[in-house]
Amino acid sequence: RPGAQQWVPPDADVPALAAAAPACRGCELWAPATQVVFSSGSPRAAIVLVGEQPGDREDREGEPFVGPAGRLLDEALEEAGVARDDVYVTNAVKHFRFVERGPRRLHKTPAVAHIRACLPWLEAELAAVRPRVVVALGATAARAVLGHDVTVGDVRGQVLDGPAGVRVVVTAHPAAILRLRDRADREEARAALVADLTTAGRAAA
Ligand code: URA
Ligand code: SF4
Repeated sequence: RPGAQQWVPPDADVPALAAAAPACRGCELWAPATQVVFSSGSPRAAIVLVGEQPGDREDREGEPFVGPAGRLLDEALEEAGVARDDVYVTNAVKHFRFVERGPRRLHKTPAVAHIRACLPWLEAELAAVRPRVVVALGATAARAVLGHDVTVGDVRGQVLDGPAGVRVVVTAHPAAILRLRDRADREEARAALVADLTTAGRAAA
């Protein structure tokens, strides 16, 4: 059976999952990537933040959300009054998917097959951390967490019922906010991210 399941140790805590992840061959994305990017933050956090996949910087450093999107996320969490100690940060897909353009590696959105292949890791993390609230950053994360497609604009900022009784808040991906060309649009999207993280913080309290 394709997918990560056979590499995911059963009933494992977060350190054991992170230690097992480098061996994963659940899809083809491991081969061109530098390394697996697992998670960061507290395994006892009340809030789990789920991104899409590591970016170029994350692939090189082995840590999620250390690049520009991570900086925006850190600022938004602080403005929302959510302490870094209260969050565990991970991605729906644990290897960087990219296309090479000369010396540059350009992000390529993971396919549904990659999200599905990598899902056993996310499920194991959620079982280990047992957060009160999961924040899905963007459509890829929302699909992984909820198990079906949603339109971010339709559901963002609502407190949804996710699998196994966990509350889910869907919001925009910080990288998508950074890509907005118009400054006023960007400010508005940033304020909405802060509002949604504030909602998540309240739902976790
Ligand atoms: N974007 C993501 O979705 N995850 C990261 O870790 C970095 C950027
Ligand atoms: Fe395994 Fe996920 Fe990496 Fe694919 S992306 S090899 S399923 S860890």
